[in-house]
Amino acid sequence: MATSQLIQISKEWIGKVALVTGASAGIGLQLLKSLTNSGIRCVGCARNISKIEELSNGVIAHRCDVSNDTEVKFMFEMLREKLGGVDILINNAGLSHYSPLLTGSTEEWREMLQVNILGLSICTREFLQQLKSRLVETGYVVNLCSMSGHRVLTDPNYHFYAATKYAVTALTEGLRQELRATGSGVKVSQISPGLVDTEFKGRAMKDMTAAKVYYESNPVLTCEDISQSVLYLLSTPQHVSVHDILMRPTRELK
Ligand SMILES: NC(=O)c1ccc[n+]([C@@H]2O[C@H](COP(=O)([O-])OP(=O)(O)OC[C@H]3O[C@@H](n4cnc5c(N)ncnc54)[C@H](OP(=O)(O)O)[C@@H]3O)[C@@H](O)[C@H]2O)c1
Repeated sequence: MATSQLIQISKEWIGKVALVTGASAGIGLQLLKSLTNSGIRCVGCARNISKIEELSNGVIAHRCDVSNDTEVKFMFEMLREKLGGVDILINNAGLSHYSPLLTGSTEEWREMLQVNILGLSICTREFLQQLKSRLVETGYVVNLCSMSGHRVLTDPNYHFYAATKYAVTALTEGLRQELRATGSGVKVSQISPGLVDTEFKGRAMKDMTAAKVYYESNPVLTCEDISQSVLYLLSTPQHVSVHDILMRPTRELK
């Protein structure tokens, strides 16, 4: 069943443009489908865009590494020219490596920092600058955080990743405060899921087969569960600010 049809987004977002980062797989790819079905014009970016291009629903695919300042600036300029600008930013691009604090590699830590923290911050800044230059007073930033932005698992493979997601929790609240201080009408929220069945764990482990076995033997959320939460955020009236949605599979212990 296409449950995404059940949540009606607010009329103010219909026909507006959403940019979903990290949209070539998992949660991002599902978001492109759910948002488009709800009447939002979508742009999906990632480093590999073939799966976004395969969507035959009018979604625009754009190749972009969100940790690259120049590429992100170019993307926002291009979207301003082509679509008039971006109204909703979903900061979804993110990754983990299995990289414990005692033995992990600096390169893997650097990539997590560059994508999960810097990439999200660069995209957010460029998004807000283009809203300002268009004299648009409303917009929405949704950050894909994690339950790992709220508690530290005993699994050492995720300790550095958790540090990046704790940073996202701080960035969401910091952004809320900066926006309120300037009297902006732009809303900001984050979503903090537990385990979601995507390519995430396979990429982290560098073993898609082992990850598949793990997902099959543990309680998981689906990508649609997450996209439903994003639709809920977009259904809230302008005066309501939902800060964070913490969500786990019902039977998850951690
Ligand atoms: N799966 C979970 O259990 C879980 C739980 C909580 C939170 N999250 C968060 O949810 C978000 C989405 O994860 P997912 O589970 O959907 O993972 P996924 O299936 O591995 O997808 C990750 C996406 O991020 C993109 N990406 C990675 N590095 C990028 C970069 N430098 N520039 C642009 N795009 C980049 C990937 O595309 P390319 O490789 O093509 O660039 C891919 O589209 C992440 O922020 C993750 O931390 C996931």
